[in-house]
Amino acid sequence: GTVVLAYSGGLDTSCILCWFIEQGYEVIAYMADIGQAEDFEAARAKATKLGAKKVFIEDLKKEFVTEFIWPTVQANSIYEDRYLMGTAIARPCIARRQIEIAIQEGAQFVSHGATGKGNDQIRFELTFYAMQPSIQVISVWRDESFYKRFQGRKDLFEYAKAHDIPLPVTPKSPWSMDANLMHVSYESGVLEDPAAHAPEADLYTMTKDPAKAPDAPANIVIEFKAGVPVKVTNKDNGVVKTDPLDMYLYLNEIGGEHGIGRIDIVENRFIGMKSRGVYETPAGTILRAAHIDIESLTMDREVRKIRDLLSVKFTEHIYHGFWFSPECNFVRKAIADSQKDVEGVVEMRLFKGHTYILGRSSDKSLYDQNLVSMDVEGEYDPKTAEGFIKVNALRLREMARLRGAPKRD
Ligand code: ARG
Ligand code: SIN
Repeated sequence: GTVVLAYSGGLDTSCILCWFIEQGYEVIAYMADIGQAEDFEAARAKATKLGAKKVFIEDLKKEFVTEFIWPTVQANSIYEDRYLMGTAIARPCIARRQIEIAIQEGAQFVSHGATGKGNDQIRFELTFYAMQPSIQVISVWRDESFYKRFQGRKDLFEYAKAHDIPLPVTPKSPWSMDANLMHVSYESGVLEDPAAHAPEADLYTMTKDPAKAPDAPANIVIEFKAGVPVKVTNKDNGVVKTDPLDMYLYLNEIGGEHGIGRIDIVENRFIGMKSRGVYETPAGTILRAAHIDIESLTMDREVRKIRDLLSVKFTEHIYHGFWFSPECNFVRKAIADSQKDVEGVVEMRLFKGHTYILGRSSDKSLYDQNLVSMDVEGEYDPKTAEGFIKVNALRLREMARLRGAPKRD
């Protein structure tokens, strides 16, 4: 049979590729370009040399930003209060194209290199099955004939030598990384002890150490329409970006320069175990702060409350791998609907690892300065507040009258 393998160009998936050929499969290597720093042509040459029948290198950067990242901006999605889900949100984007290629090429099998302990296997495979119910998934790290043979890195190295797989030129970092244009994640290895400090100086690749960030802040303006950014302006040098991918990459660049978006957390994997992870998500961090702010000006209070409830579900769908599910589709559409009037500009400052909001304005503003001002009466009769408070107090007074006033604990 033919297998479409999600190939990274690294040692593991190169061994997996050869192993499939050894088992008698025809292999189609598939690489998704979602903005990770990678020499794709070198990887293509490598896969071809190792015996891949075809190699697909797919540029998914634009759809990754507009179809997957933008909805998380609209939702202010955040997992367990801290993680912006740069890995989780990339999985349905990668896996969808993989299935399209499998269908187009008439392949019965798809495969990936995710481990049997993690979230990623779930996210890839739920997407595969949702898009092509008859697909057969080969998850090598759960396949006895594979993992019994490759029990450690030493086995992979020996296998690579025997099969003429070029060994990595740089020594493998003592942690596992997953990189794309939204973030870089670091897990396992020396990070497994949650008490051990991350080796900051060697680890981070997208962001500067906030302590070494410039002493002069960056002043930027982000314009939103329908809850997504449409324009980023740098007030210091006049740089303007309007293309979604350009804007995102530019925010990564200046956010990274100012040390924005680093986190070090312990999180709950869907599979049930806790894991320690370090992440850097500069643009995502800036956009979340800016988006929350423009919503504060333009969004109805009660709509916001319901959207926030839906966001909790949406975040869970993404983290758990249920992007292509009826429930996620429903929630995503509802959240998008809440964003119709979320537009306007937010001025902000980036400085030594922090984002500061300076001001905001919008044609769709619900803010009425006359109404709220302490200096003018406006259209509001202050006496009506008396009745409002009395009516709301009714229950409380009845409670105190019938059962006594609240006691100190
Ligand atoms: N823990 C994060 C998540 O589940 C990051 C996973 C990193 N994946 C990887 N293949 N290194 O989304
Ligand atoms: C992996 O298991 O491949 C990485 C970690 C995860 O998916 O949670």
